[in-house]
Amino acid sequence: MYRFLFTQLLSRIDPEDAHHLTVGALRLLSTAPVVKKAVHRRLAPRDPALRVQAFGVHFPGPFGLAAGFDKDAGCVEAMSALGFGHVEVGTITAHAQPGNARPRLFRLPRERAVINRMGFNNAGAGAAARALGRTRGVPAVVGVNIGKTKVVPEAEAAADYVASAKELAPLADYLVVNVSSPNTPGLRNLQAVELLRPLLSAVKEVADGTPKRTPLLVKIAPDLADEDVDAVADLALELGLDGIIATNTTIGREGVSSTEAGGLSGRPLKARSLAVLRRLRARVGDRLTLVSVGGVEDVDDVWERLLAGATLVQGYTGLIYHGPLWAYRIHRGLARRMRRHGVSDLREIVGRTAG
Ligand SMILES: Cc1cc2nc3c(=O)[nH]c(=O)nc-3n(C[C@H](O)[C@H](O)[C@H](O)COP(=O)(O)O)c2cc1C
Repeated sequence: MYRFLFTQLLSRIDPEDAHHLTVGALRLLSTAPVVKKAVHRRLAPRDPALRVQAFGVHFPGPFGLAAGFDKDAGCVEAMSALGFGHVEVGTITAHAQPGNARPRLFRLPRERAVINRMGFNNAGAGAAARALGRTRGVPAVVGVNIGKTKVVPEAEAAADYVASAKELAPLADYLVVNVSSPNTPGLRNLQAVELLRPLLSAVKEVADGTPKRTPLLVKIAPDLADEDVDAVADLALELGLDGIIATNTTIGREGVSSTEAGGLSGRPLKARSLAVLRRLRARVGDRLTLVSVGGVEDVDDVWERLLAGATLVQGYTGLIYHGPLWAYRIHRGLARRMRRHGVSDLREIVGRTAG
């Protein structure tokens, strides 16, 4: 059904128009409480074996929606109803900004990939806070991913992140500092430990000050050298962060023919994303929660990430190619596989193939 819709309609229209059409439909779903609850009852993970606890938060299943789909936190409940165990909204910046000029989103169907150079188009932290304040009709675990406003110079980056954190940390189940998008000039320089330390320390102070103490994670790029992955992991431990999300999109073009500028996601990212996860696990063991994202397409991939040490797994590009039942099917397949292997709790398998 989705394959038909995709080939006959969605793949024929501009990718960003298709995205807005989809988000519009999901927003509509969010405004219909009866339908929303009925969809949630049918598709959200309910098998107790799938439940995960990480940094003090209860997740109904390990597979969630990665940042970038719901930039303005407009369809959190709809995505939760469709079966995502958590929804990471954003990237949100302190100030509203339009992002880069269109076209800025490109499908690569043969490679099951996407290139985007959206550039953090979003309505700003205030608008996102209002949107989040309106939700919670159906249960949803919400991560809030924050980034730097484009016009803010690097020297003032920490203050800009702090402004977003103050607005959004109290509304988030967890907060993510995104320093890894390739589409904001200079952003990824902030991954260098000497710049990252003061930035994360400042945001952590805000996150620690909320009534519930909001867990804090950092999201890193797949293009970091292995030693830099280790350095960020050591810093996260030193500062007492709750976890690391790996990875964002890549500026690499291995395995694809397109030379469009931007970040590449989907299948071509799979191997590097998994390698970064393994590297992180070897470095930090179970002292941090690792969230694996990049090229996850099906239950085999999720299983592999769990075994390699991820407690949570995310995806975005797969949604474009597999459609709205993607998360539901992954959780259903995972529950079946657990039963087949005699696994009753995901903690039994997380990190089992890690060194
Ligand atoms: C169109 C698009 C927009 C994205 N926007 C963001 C973003 O705003 N913030 C962020 O942290 N990651 C963003 N990402 C990266 C995803 O969250 C994810 O890390 C990456 O796409 C790899 O996962 P995937 O292969 O499952 O798509 C975006 C990805 C895509 C495809």
